[in-house]
Amino acid sequence: MAIDSRLIPADFTPVPSLDHAPKIIVSSTLPDDVEVVGFAVGSDGKVPSALGTTFDALNRAGFAGTPGQTLVLPRTEGPVFIAVGVGSDPAQTATSLRDAAAAFARAAARYSALALDLGEAFALEPSVVGQMVTEGTLLARYRFTELKPTTTDIPLASLTIVSEPGTIEQVTAGAATGEVTSRAANLARDLANNPPGHLTATRMGTVGLDIADDYGLKVEVFDKKQLIELGCGGLLGVNAGSAEEPRMIKMVYTPEGTPTSHVALVGKGIMYDAGGISLKPSDSMHLLMKMDMAGAAAIMGAMTALKALGVTSKVSAWLMCTDNMPSGTAMGLGDVLTMRGGKTVEIKNTDAEGRLVMADALVLATEEHPDAIVDVATLTGSALQTLGTRVAAVFGNDQALVDQAIAASQATDEPIWQLPLEHRYRPQLNSAYADMSNMGGPFNVAITAALFLNEFVDGIPWAHLDIAGTMQSDTDDSWRTAGATGFATRLLIELLTNFTPTK
Ligand code: BES
Ligand code: MN
Ligand code: ZN
Repeated sequence: MAIDSRLIPADFTPVPSLDHAPKIIVSSTLPDDVEVVGFAVGSDGKVPSALGTTFDALNRAGFAGTPGQTLVLPRTEGPVFIAVGVGSDPAQTATSLRDAAAAFARAAARYSALALDLGEAFALEPSVVGQMVTEGTLLARYRFTELKPTTTDIPLASLTIVSEPGTIEQVTAGAATGEVTSRAANLARDLANNPPGHLTATRMGTVGLDIADDYGLKVEVFDKKQLIELGCGGLLGVNAGSAEEPRMIKMVYTPEGTPTSHVALVGKGIMYDAGGISLKPSDSMHLLMKMDMAGAAAIMGAMTALKALGVTSKVSAWLMCTDNMPSGTAMGLGDVLTMRGGKTVEIKNTDAEGRLVMADALVLATEEHPDAIVDVATLTGSALQTLGTRVAAVFGNDQALVDQAIAASQATDEPIWQLPLEHRYRPQLNSAYADMSNMGGPFNVAITAALFLNEFVDGIPWAHLDIAGTMQSDTDDSWRTAGATGFATRLLIELLTNFTPTK
């Protein structure tokens, strides 16, 4: 197998963050062994007495208590103190608190045993406080250092959340939720940060099988022969140029009792997108194409959270995994693929490959008549150009479903913005040789890509997230750690937790 010739150690794990989870403790007292204590300070002037200073003195040092602000206070003895701005009502929100915790975790980057004293500075429910503090800290301290033995990063070992005795139970429950959502997002980040040679489609399938039991999932992995039997011409066509086999990973979560609904998820899992015969230039964008499976990664991450959070819907996911390589066996321009279900597609650009692998999965999803289909894909450079790196695009054929996705995106600070599924552009996908072409011209590429997918959902309520812009961050920025962001993982968890059928 190709992997062996790449000198990848036998014990290499593509998902290290599943193995070392920091400890989260909720307590009304400060443990002795902490190295650094953050004190929540509101912007309203109240300063916890333990901090040993005044709001005025903090102000003079440039600290006003706004969310995201931190000030390290050196001490001759005992743990380092950090003033952590948390704002005040009404500027104080779940998002601002997550940001504040992330800022604290970064200000305390040199320490592994952290405590954050929340005091009474909150206008938010204690369970929300517990969840946000946990998410902000665990997401901000995430690092992918598996391939960097000389790293000087200090891993987080523990976080103690110090809270009022009367709120311990609720804060603890929220923190437990935060641990689940953060672990899921960090799993997605691990997967997307892996180099393509370390995480092939075959290995992605193995990861899926490995985690199945721990997270109460039924996982099936389909190899090339089975994909031929299923008629998945899109996935096979994209895979044609590759030395690595494709894999379709099907993951199913079934709740205890009668499911309240059935949601289907479809993820783009291009392990590496070279563009195929329409080869990409060797620029910085090409370097990001190991993350072209960030949609599949977000879904795999989200699936690990459903049992722990008691989601009552059945959730079925199809992750479409292959790389997109140029070679003597690759598909060429003018080739015509027959997708699952029989529709034919003329290839006008082999770099518009995501929609091809997604089409087979969307058809497989419709065959199970779910209440909704949600897909996540790093589909178009156009989404990046339009909305940048902080906001993803959402499209859909059912406004109520899109609205549920937008609500989930707001709660999780994974913002999405709706773009039109504009049917007037549909003729751009016409082909003289096949039912449609895989390319809709040079403009409005994110929209024609969505229109292409729409051809395969059979009118079932469907939302499509194009996360090409948000899959990655160049810098550490609040909960986003430089590298893969895990974007859409927490959004999906939130959406599935609250999902109500729209039809
Ligand atoms: N994987 C890319 C889209 C992408 C670009 C993701 C930048 C993340 C960052 C996708 O497969 C692609 O190549 N799309 C083309 C489509 C075009 C050929 C119709 C694009 O957007 O340019
Ligand atoms: Mn491409
Ligand atoms: Zn791609």
